[in-house]
Amino acid sequence: MEYYSARAALQWQVELGADEALGDVPINRYELPDTAPGKPARPVPVAAMAGAQAAPPPEPDKVDPVADARRMAQAAGDLDGLRAAMAAFEHCELKRGARNLVFADGQPGARLMVIGEAPGREEDREGRPFVGRAGQLLDRMLDAIGMARGAESAANSVYITNVMPWRPPQNREPTPEEIAMMVPFMQRHVELAAPDVLILVGNISCDAAIGKRGITRLRGQWAEAYGRPAMPMFHPAYLLRQPQMKREAWADLLEVQARLREMT
Ligand code: URA
Repeated sequence: MEYYSARAALQWQVELGADEALGDVPINRYELPDTAPGKPARPVPVAAMAGAQAAPPPEPDKVDPVADARRMAQAAGDLDGLRAAMAAFEHCELKRGARNLVFADGQPGARLMVIGEAPGREEDREGRPFVGRAGQLLDRMLDAIGMARGAESAANSVYITNVMPWRPPQNREPTPEEIAMMVPFMQRHVELAAPDVLILVGNISCDAAIGKRGITRLRGQWAEAYGRPAMPMFHPAYLLRQPQMKREAWADLLEVQARLREMT
């Protein structure tokens, strides 16, 4: 089996809850290993445990994933091209465990763009961002300031995307390397969607867009991302767990509404 397929198959087993690998031949773990004292016993290679011929691991990747992402993102002349470039990007491990590329939803050209963190289970299944419970809350929040992803006119429509287009296994936090390699795509996404104002929900979006974390401190304060005003806000998934924080979110939404009005 080829290295990446074997690794994806193993990761899938782990997601299903497998925490033990059984070999074809029993191992008596009470037997003293025939190694020198202090030298750890040789681990059984995963490929051997699966009964396969151990393939040598591939040469370490010589390509810089961030540089590759930058090159591919810059070459995209429109949103369809950007989606295709992301679909062709092979450096992010998350892609191998995800069902779908979750690109965006709503109206390109909308005045408001929301950047979330990463798809969850429902989003992965449907291939659209923010369709689960957190997404439903986000829609209600946007509706409260007269904005919607399904709106006809650009003036009150919203375009929604995530930093990560693939669902991390078990919704784990994306690693700094995974975030860094998707930033060039996100930047190009903002340029091509060309909103007037950005909303960054949660720490990962703030990290990716403005290089800062600490949403409790950042929220409610205008920042700038890619030459556009950006409002950091609590993530709707956090608001579902901490509904008393909706008051702050409401204040931030009113700020966004006021900024949009100022800019007309
Ligand atoms: N949380 C996010 O940040 N994005 C989604 O698309 C869904 C949940």
